[in-house]
Order: sequence, then C-alpha cells, then structure tokens
Amino acid sequence: MIVKQEPQEIFPTPLWVVDIVSADAAAFNAKLKAEIETIIAPRPKVPSGSNWQTPQDLHTRPEFADFVKLIEMATKGVAQFLKVDQYPMMVTGCWANVNPPGTYHPTHNHPNNYLSGVYYVAVPETGSHLLFQDPRPGLILPPTAKHGRVTANAFVAQPRPGRMIMFPSWLRHHVPSNEGTTERISIAFNLMFTNFAESLSAPSWKPTAGNA
Ligand SMILES: [Fe+2]
Repeated sequence: MIVKQEPQEIFPTPLWVVDIVSADAAAFNAKLKAEIETIIAPRPKVPSGSNWQTPQDLHTRPEFADFVKLIEMATKGVAQFLKVDQYPMMVTGCWANVNPPGTYHPTHNHPNNYLSGVYYVAVPETGSHLLFQDPRPGLILPPTAKHGRVTANAFVAQPRPGRMIMFPSWLRHHVPSNEGTTERISIAFNLMFTNFAESLSAPSWKPTAGNA
C-alpha cells in the first residue's frame, strides 16, 4: 500500500566543528595562551567559581591577527554552506575566557549577531564540554532506547585544543562546571553582516520556503 516513506529533516540547526592541523595546534595555542596571559596579568582576585574574561576587542589587536585569519577561513566555509558568502561579514567581538576548575558559563546566546564561535586553546583532560539546547518549544520527549539527533533535547559538543565550534548566534548554550584539574581557556567571537541594514533588511517579497 505504501510506496514510499522517508523522513525529511526540516529546519535543521547546523553547527560546524573546525579542527586545525594537529601538528600546528600546540605552537599556535601556546602563542595564544601567552598573549591571553599578558592581557590578564596580573590576575585580579576573583571570587571562587568566577571566570576571567579579556576585553572584547582581541580581533583588533595585531597579536591576534593569525587568529582572525582562522576565523575568516572558517567563516568562509560556513557562509558558502549557507549560501550567503556574497555578503561581507565582520567580527563584532572577540574575547578570551579563562575557566578555572569549578567555573561554568550559564545559559545564554549572542544577540545582534549572525554567527558565533568558540576556539579552544586549553581543555582539561576530563569534564569539559559545550552544551547546546534544543530550540524547539513544547517538545514532547518520551524516553527512547537511544536519544539521537532527532530525539534528543540537547547536543554536547566536545572541545579539544585546536578545535573551533561555530553556530548560529541565536542558539542557546551553556558550559557546565569545569570538572577537570586545569584551566579551560577559550576564545569566543561573534560575526555579523557588515552592511546588514543597507543590503539585507529591505522587504524582498520573495518566497523563502524550501522543499524536498
Ligand atoms: Fe556563548
């Protein structure tokens, strides 16, 4: 009776895991770590459980020029995938996070941007990940034998030194408590279309629906 039954995954939420060449990662991360240490030295006294964050202008500093190049390369791939590479994008903010053991980042997203990302400079051996939350409202979530991409209500991205994770800025996420014994050091950034109002906001009146 049935001639065909196949799922269509509509409105998927892509994120991108970008790994740099592992042979390059150690030296690249050592340089980034040293630059971050310079910025936050001397370390302020912060309450236990708190994070250090640098100013959000790292993308404007010459010491981070190679890192900005890495962002630009990764962004090019993302923009091509999303078919928006004809529109220039710019980094609107870039900052480093230093999370000692026991610290976490509560749930948040990155308003007023199109893409966001995080790059891992140093990651504890265990107990460190980035958790994205299901954006679908009113989800019915019966227990299943195995929660997968379609049935889970969260997605865990595994960090590792030399890895960048990029995602839509509206996607809510948090970083659970650092359960390791060493600091987690990451560099976060946001990107937005350079000329959004001028070139992308006017009504187009064209259909935006996709189909199978
Ligand atoms: Fe974030």
